[in-house]
Formats: sequence, structure tokens, C-alpha cells
Amino acid sequence: MASNGQAEKVAEVEENVGDNGDTVTPWDVQSKSDKGIDYDKLIERFGCQRISDDLIQRIEKVIGQPVHPLLKRGIFFSHRDLEFILAQKEAGKPFYLYTGRGPSSESMHLGHLIPFVFTKWLQDAFDVPLVIQLTDDEKFLWKNLTIKETMKLAKENAKDIIACGFDLNKTFIFSNFRYIGQSPEFYQNIQLVAKNVTFNQAKGCFGFTESDSIGKIHFPSIEAAPSFSSSFPFIFGEDSNIPCLIPCAIDQDPFFRMTRDVAPRVGLHKPALIHSVFFPALQGAQSKMSASDETSAIFLTDTPEQIRTKITKYAFSGGQSTAEAQREKGANCEIDVTYQYLRFFYDDDEKLQEIKKDYTSGKLLTGELKKILIEHLQKMVADIQERRKKVTDETVDEFMKPRPLSYKY
Ligand code: TYM
Repeated sequence: MASNGQAEKVAEVEENVGDNGDTVTPWDVQSKSDKGIDYDKLIERFGCQRISDDLIQRIEKVIGQPVHPLLKRGIFFSHRDLEFILAQKEAGKPFYLYTGRGPSSESMHLGHLIPFVFTKWLQDAFDVPLVIQLTDDEKFLWKNLTIKETMKLAKENAKDIIACGFDLNKTFIFSNFRYIGQSPEFYQNIQLVAKNVTFNQAKGCFGFTESDSIGKIHFPSIEAAPSFSSSFPFIFGEDSNIPCLIPCAIDQDPFFRMTRDVAPRVGLHKPALIHSVFFPALQGAQSKMSASDETSAIFLTDTPEQIRTKITKYAFSGGQSTAEAQREKGANCEIDVTYQYLRFFYDDDEKLQEIKKDYTSGKLLTGELKKILIEHLQKMVADIQERRKKVTDETVDEFMKPRPLSYKY
């Protein structure tokens, strides 16, 4: 049993909109402030914990290497039961990683890369198996797409994900529409969750209303079930109860708050989580980068020219309106989208510090900063495209075939 035997109470009142007007659900993220979501308030509202410097040091000790810049810079900022996962590792006991993607567009965008880049790092650093859920069923229920279309998008997105460099021997990717017919154990765990969550709890957790389809109301149990290792009998065994760690942005937390409420009541480990903040829309931090709004996003299929145009035209600037004023007053990096994007993807700490100092003081102009980002992203996206070209339909089939993975017990 997980370190936390007690069931967590899932709220039966609406908690998706904070008193500051921040909305965070798996399907809608918005803030009224130009600085974006107030994450301190969100942590308090959701009941998770901020990742402390001590915890980062403990991770570094366990893995014997420095943590990824996304963790060091506070982009992965919050967690549930990460200590329990570290204790497993320290005791030489296994755990696995679980993450996912809802295939709503042909190509993923830069925001979607964040959890996958980080998960890849976790997989390498901890040397653990990973399961990746493609929720084609979710996108069928929520979007104006046919079942066939969502299944096709799932395969396309699987290629983007594989291009992030996951190890075939340690990674199983599955689409719900396909996998449900292949694993009775997965379906059994879905029903185990469904039986233990009331409509009232689902309304409180997700903001469902009476006019939502019953498909939507049932869907959270399908995202919950991969948190239980027995959903993958060919990897972990039918009666297994191996703890899992879920990296994701904090919008997915409601699914797992619900799962964590159910788990102890059915004798299973609660999933642990590590959450990231949102990669902002080009227009600014009030909303997250979203595939449904084309102009808000840079896609992994964008050409160098499209990347240049989008950043030049749309990236919200925290600098001054003229070069003269910028030299005199400097910029506000907190709200400047170009600087924020560099913070997510520019790994060189020293250089980033220097850029921040020069842009804040006015030594660096907005156009110059944008040029640094454009060149960096053009190269990064081109590299991903190059790797994706090598991912064939056969490679996807290999990753999606139910099979044993290599892990130590
Ligand atoms: P989806 O497809 O909306 O997002 C995939 C992953 O990307 C994260 N994400 C972001 N991260 C940073 N900045 C953004 N702007 C941004 N937009 C999305 C999401 O939090 C997610 O981690 N229902 C899920 C699919 C899913 C899943 C999971 C995700 C199934 N099981 C387990 C995480 C963990 C979805 O539609 O994700």
C-alpha cells in the first residue's frame, strides 16, 4: 500500500474556478492575469505540494546526476507522493511511469513536448518502464471528429512521441480504442474505478453538467485505469500492484485526484504525480498553448518560415514599444512570451541568465531576443522532424504491441 493509506476526499463542489478567476480543467485553462495562472493558489486549491530544493537534492542523490533543467527551473513545480516513489527506488523496489496524449490534431505542439521530453529524461535517469495512453476515445467524445479520424490522429501523434527518443524495450504506447479489446484486465480496472466514483464527485472534480454525454462522465475512469499496473498483465503480471508516477501538466491533475481517492478503497497504490506549469500561448500567459487555436501554437510540423512568422507576429512582448524606450526602461521578462519560451527550451543556464539580464536592463531589444528564440526553435523543430521521418508505421506497431518490457524487480 502506498505511503498514504487514507482515502483523499474528492470534492463534491465545483473547484475548477478559483476565487481569482483562474480556470484549470483538463479541457480549459484560462487566467484573468497577464502573468498567467497563480500556481501557488492552484496548489493550495488542488491540495498538491510544491517541489522543494531539498526534494530536488534527494532526487539528485537517488539518480546520481543533476536533474533536468525543466525541474531545476521550477517548470515541473508540484507533486503528489514523489517522496514515496523515491523511497521505492532507494529500497531497490520497482515503479513505472505513465503519461499520455489526447490526439486532437495531426501534429503535437511545443507545449505537448514538455511532459514527453521530461518523461524521456525520467525514463533514462531512473531506468524504468513507461506506458503512454493515447485517448482517441476522449477526443471522439469531446471534439467534432469521427472514431476513424481520432484513431488515425493517435497513430500520427505516436510518431511525434516516438521521435522524442523513447526506448522501445521499456515503452508501451496504446490507444484506448485498440487496447480495450486486447486487455480484459484494463477494462476490469476501468470498471473498478467507475463503480467507486459517484456522479456528484465527477461533477465536483471535472465540472460536468446534466447535459454532458454519459460518455464524457464515464471517461475519467479510462484515464485512471493505467495508474494500476494490473492493466498491463504482460508487463507487470495480472495480480501486480506496482506503484506508478505520472508526469503531466497540472491540467490533468483532476483525473488522478479522483484515482487517488479510489485506489486505497480497492487495495491498490495511489498514483504519484509530478506536475508542470503551462507552456503559454503565443499571445501571452492568460491561456496555454492549445492545438484548437492555430495562432496560439507552434506545431512540430511547422516550417522554419512559419516559426519565424508566428514568433515575429504573435509572440506577446514584455518589452517597450520603441527601441529607444526599451533601451531606457528595459523589459518585463515575467510576461514576455519570447523569454518564457527560452526558459522552457534553452538549456544553457549561463547564457539564459545573461539574456535575462540584458533584456531586463534594455541592452537587448525585443527583435534581437526574438531572433535568438527563432533560431533556437527552428533548429530544435527541424531535429524532431528529422527523427520523425525515420519513424515508420512498422516502428509504431512495434511500440504499440502488447509485450513484456525490460525492467528489474
Ligand atoms: P493533451 O493531449 O491535452 O496533452 C498532452 C500532455 O501535454 C500536457 N500539455 C501541456 N503541457 C505544458 N503546456 C501546455 N500548453 C500543454 N498542453 C498540454 C498535458 O498536461 C499532457 O500531459 N487526457 C490527456 C491524455 C492523457 C494523459 C494521461 C496525460 C491520458 N492519460 C496521463 C497525462 C498523463 C490529454 O488530452 O492530454
